[in-house]
Amino acid sequence: MRIKLRYLSSSFLLLFFLCYVQSQEFLPNTTGYTCSPNQTTNQCQTYAFYRASAPDYRASAPNLLDLASIGDLFSVSRLMISNPSNISSPSSPLIQNQPLFVPLTCSCNTLNTSYSISFANLSYTIAQGDTFYLVSTYLYLNLTTYQSVMIVNPTVVPTELEAGDVVQFPIFCKCPNETQLQNQVSYLVSYVLQPSDNLSSVASMFGTETQSIIDVNGNNSQTFETIFVPVTRLPQLPQLTQPDAVTPASPGAGKTERKGVNRGLAIGLAICGVLLVLVTGMLIYSEVILKKRRKRKSDDAEKQKLQFDKGGKGFKNMEVNLMADVSDCLDKYKLFNIEELRAATNDFSEDCLIQGSVYKGFINGEVYAIKMMKWNACEELKILQKSRPGNTILILCIDCKFSV
Ligand SMILES: *[C@@H]1O[C@H](CO)[C@@H](O)[C@H](O)[C@H]1NC(C)=O
Ligand SMILES: *[C@@H]1O[C@H](CO)[C@@H](O)[C@H](O)[C@H]1NC(C)=O
Ligand SMILES: *[C@@H]1O[C@H](CO)[C@@H](O)[C@H](O)[C@H]1NC(C)=O
Ligand SMILES: *[C@@H]1O[C@H](CO)[C@@H](O)[C@H](O)[C@H]1NC(C)=O
Ligand SMILES: *[C@@H]1O[C@H](CO)[C@@H](O)[C@H](O)[C@H]1NC(C)=O
Ligand SMILES: *[C@@H]1O[C@H](CO)[C@@H](O)[C@H](O)[C@H]1NC(C)=O
Ligand SMILES: *[C@@H]1O[C@H](CO)[C@@H](O)[C@H](O)[C@H]1NC(C)=O
Ligand SMILES: *[C@@H]1O[C@H](CO)[C@@H](O)[C@H](O)[C@H]1NC(C)=O
Ligand SMILES: *[C@@H]1O[C@H](CO)[C@@H](O)[C@H](O)[C@H]1NC(C)=O
Repeated sequence: MRIKLRYLSSSFLLLFFLCYVQSQEFLPNTTGYTCSPNQTTNQCQTYAFYRASAPDYRASAPNLLDLASIGDLFSVSRLMISNPSNISSPSSPLIQNQPLFVPLTCSCNTLNTSYSISFANLSYTIAQGDTFYLVSTYLYLNLTTYQSVMIVNPTVVPTELEAGDVVQFPIFCKCPNETQLQNQVSYLVSYVLQPSDNLSSVASMFGTETQSIIDVNGNNSQTFETIFVPVTRLPQLPQLTQPDAVTPASPGAGKTERKGVNRGLAIGLAICGVLLVLVTGMLIYSEVILKKRRKRKSDDAEKQKLQFDKGGKGFKNMEVNLMADVSDCLDKYKLFNIEELRAATNDFSEDCLIQGSVYKGFINGEVYAIKMMKWNACEELKILQKSRPGNTILILCIDCKFSV
């Protein structure tokens, strides 16, 4: 059955592609919004207007009624969405269709010598049942199109997607040009026209003029097309308060997913506990003592870790505290073991030191900021997170209560 469905939707895609090739000029900007790469305004921070939802096109479709899963989709943290969206408690569930502003890093991307389009480049990991069309339509809510996804991923065959494949989804966006910046346009917010909208209702929602929307988009925008709303500042979104009675549309799915995440977190934090001790040991000795002794020290730490594990209870408490701390201040993180961090930073060498206690590290070809820090450093974490939006930050060198 699944195979059949998949086959069907694949043919559907193919069919559409053929139609598209034949009637290219009559379709609105399905392949993306062209841009000139030599603009001074080549890259910008902007926002997409997004509506929380619980899509159900496949059994395991993420429940997008909480900020963490929307954040995952857009590679941003909950706080980066809740702040511009007038949401005071980032961890509470969202209401169906709740309006949000999701931050995007927008740039003009040159795909070949004659073709540049403007988008935010987001990595998405394909799950069983996903197609370019379904993900564009129901997860990214038409902020991109499968046609554009195909263009941006020329080597990926849309009919041969497998769970785990990583695909770049180009979320449509635009940066204000020089004229617009002079006219105090700070953002061109990406907005997907809904069947119930007209340009004047959109203009009044954003506190701007219909004409300024037409200036940017023309007067021929179609339903479900992305338009760009020029604003000086983001309007405050009227957030409905969450009535206690309202439950997410598919609470079951949400719950099991959350459970999985929590288990993952618990395992991660167990590793983290080990790290804590190891790293503390290393911190104390690395500055003073030669490499040989450092090695012996980490053996000592290993022993301590074992003793600590035997204590059991202490470890458990720590885990709980860590969990609270981590989820309070940071929701995009990865855990690495100390050997990985060591390898990444060339044994925390001076060469890798960026500033203070922040090191630059390479892990699996990606660059990370690795910071040695005292625990309960939420403020610092937030700052790091802000300064590198979209990047996972990491972490974990802790001078903790259980120090050696
Ligand atoms: C959008 O598409 C229309 C028609 O295809 C085209 O005239 C217009 O220039 C496009 N806009 C951008 C920004 O690419
Ligand atoms: C970009 O370059 C093209 C030709 O290379 C030029 O015609 C155009 O004016 C440039 N645009 C800007 C905004 O500099
Ligand atoms: C550039 O890419 C676009 C979209 O994929 C394509 O239509 C166009 O033919 C390409 N041009 C060149 C010169 O390769
Ligand atoms: C999008 O991001 C991926 C990985 O982050 C990168 O490999 C790819 O070249 C990017 N695409 C564009 C058009 O910038
Ligand atoms: C996206 O657009 C398609 C039509 O192109 C429409 O059927 C679908 O409902 C839209 N998705 C959302 C979430 O509105
Ligand atoms: C736009 O929609 C609003 C209601 O959403 C309606 O009152 C208004 O008359 C519409 N304007 C136009 C020009 O259709
Ligand atoms: C900036 O964009 C507006 C609207 O698309 C356009 O009218 C104007 O000519 C552009 N200015 C420059 C310098 O490209
Ligand atoms: C849309 O714009 C074109 C020219 O830009 C104009 O001729 C036409 O009357 C406009 N249509 C409406 C409904 O405003
Ligand atoms: C922002 O949200 C609060 C509730 O959290 C609400 O009272 C307030 O009216 C909202 N602001 C606007 C402009 O709607």
